[in-house]
Amino acid sequence: MGMWWIVVVAILAHTASAAVRQYDWEVEYKFGWPDCKEGMVMAINGQFPGPTIHALAGDTIVVHLTNKLATEGLVIHWHGIRQLGSPWADGAAGVTQCAISPGETFTYNFTVDKPGTHFYHGHYGMQRSAGLYGSLIIDAAKGKKEPLRYDGEFSLLLSDWWHEDVLSQELGLSSRPMRWIGEAQSILINGRGQFNCSLAAQFSNTMLPVCTFKEGDQCAPQRLHVEPNKTYRIRLASSTALASLNFAVQGHKLVVVEADGNYITPFATDDIDIYSGETYSVLLTTNQDPSQNYYISAGIRGRKPNTPPALTVLNYITAPSSQLPSSPPPETPRWNDFDRSKSFSKKIFAAMGSPSPPETFNERLILLNTQNLIDGFTKWAINNVSLAVPGTPYLGSVKYNLRSGFNRNSPPKDYPMDYDIMNPPRYHNTKQGNGIYVFPFNVTVDVILQNANGLAANASEIHPWHLHGHDFWVLGYGEGKFKPGIDEKTYNLKNPPLRNTVALYPYGWTALRFVTDNPGVWFFHCHIEPHLHMGMGVVFAEGLNRIGKVPDEALGCGLTKQFLMNRNNTLGS
Ligand code: C2O
Ligand code: CU
Repeated sequence: MGMWWIVVVAILAHTASAAVRQYDWEVEYKFGWPDCKEGMVMAINGQFPGPTIHALAGDTIVVHLTNKLATEGLVIHWHGIRQLGSPWADGAAGVTQCAISPGETFTYNFTVDKPGTHFYHGHYGMQRSAGLYGSLIIDAAKGKKEPLRYDGEFSLLLSDWWHEDVLSQELGLSSRPMRWIGEAQSILINGRGQFNCSLAAQFSNTMLPVCTFKEGDQCAPQRLHVEPNKTYRIRLASSTALASLNFAVQGHKLVVVEADGNYITPFATDDIDIYSGETYSVLLTTNQDPSQNYYISAGIRGRKPNTPPALTVLNYITAPSSQLPSSPPPETPRWNDFDRSKSFSKKIFAAMGSPSPPETFNERLILLNTQNLIDGFTKWAINNVSLAVPGTPYLGSVKYNLRSGFNRNSPPKDYPMDYDIMNPPRYHNTKQGNGIYVFPFNVTVDVILQNANGLAANASEIHPWHLHGHDFWVLGYGEGKFKPGIDEKTYNLKNPPLRNTVALYPYGWTALRFVTDNPGVWFFHCHIEPHLHMGMGVVFAEGLNRIGKVPDEALGCGLTKQFLMNRNNTLGS
């Protein structure tokens, strides 16, 4: 009796504070000028980037998403939201749902359980590259406080932008020989960039002319207006298709406090590396000369840059808003200084009081990342399997046990230990596949991401890997081949950061650990859009007999469509 009373009170207390936030969204293409040059953008309710979602921890978010595109399917993934108990709302086409057909509406319904900085984006074809993204910010529940103090906040969503349209990019990537998309034309901050001109032309050695804007230009930079002697939280999220970025604010220290929606041990830095799929919060104190303005820059790292940094201005309201800073913008660190990038990653530790990882693992995957050819087509492969997502969403196939939905043999759990990671692949024998890794409920899984040389000699790239449905602990990074039985000794088991995205550095390995406590089917993939498009991903399934009722609307395609029709006919007769 007493117990029941406590439960009822707890439920009442919970529902009293949590809100349901409803959104009606329509997605269509429209002409836009993200970098002052006209192009096609994917817009939500006419907005590019899409509207920012603000919610409180514990809230339920309901998005009625209508596909107004004439000829393409559509989904939206809520990047960083774990979808505890709602795997069908994860928005990964072919994994957790069918793409929404033109003219149709799909309803995403999920709760956001903890404060954090996130974003959302398209997850079908290369629609993220086409500009389908927006910010998703969760604040502490009413009456709860975050362990951070600040006077104001900004949120900056970073992306990269091409003038070639996305269908043409996709065609190039899947052509033989492959046509690479090349470097972006512009980097965008909240959807705004400047092509072929510079906000810092008065200093630059790039010979770019000064940018001129008309009132209300879509590509005019969004200035950040601040008061002197205050502290601001800047929320950063990177939705780039390709670029790794370095973010800096001229003359100001940044104190990093949050990574991927988890608090970290704060540390001060002049600049911050951010990979596609990552988010950070930094605190900035406006303690510089208040009669000046300061550049904010996001420049390319990790690939030989052919794109000027994105710039905007930190405007002290005590200085004229239109006044340009009096000294040049921060210089982006050398693109191939990978040691610098690694040392940044290694500064990130969980905040005190964060959950620590189980001490050991039950299952381990060692995933070799290779670039290879199939019949002259360029692909990325994991343990020599290049992922081709099937026409029936995995979640439907496993829920209704449709055996032919995908290959039921698991892909390899490791790779031949004599594989030479320092050189291009010797054999062009990669295969396409759609098998998945299936785990029991509540076991601890270690994943070792192992990098290698690509197809060209002396080239190994950064791959930011992102896991859906989970945060994982980043246990460590290492050089060369991971040595089982030896390298585990270097793991940080004391205060490893919890994240959902982590970088795999050239010729190295990255180790992570998670617990399979979220029944569902979860994508795990490189967040570089063209790499994912060329097969650089795997799929995890866990706790399959605990998956709740999958809404039929998620499964109106492939084998599940037929299955549901038959079932409903039987029920009706
Ligand atoms: Cu932000 Cu599957 O990705
Ligand atoms: Cu990649």
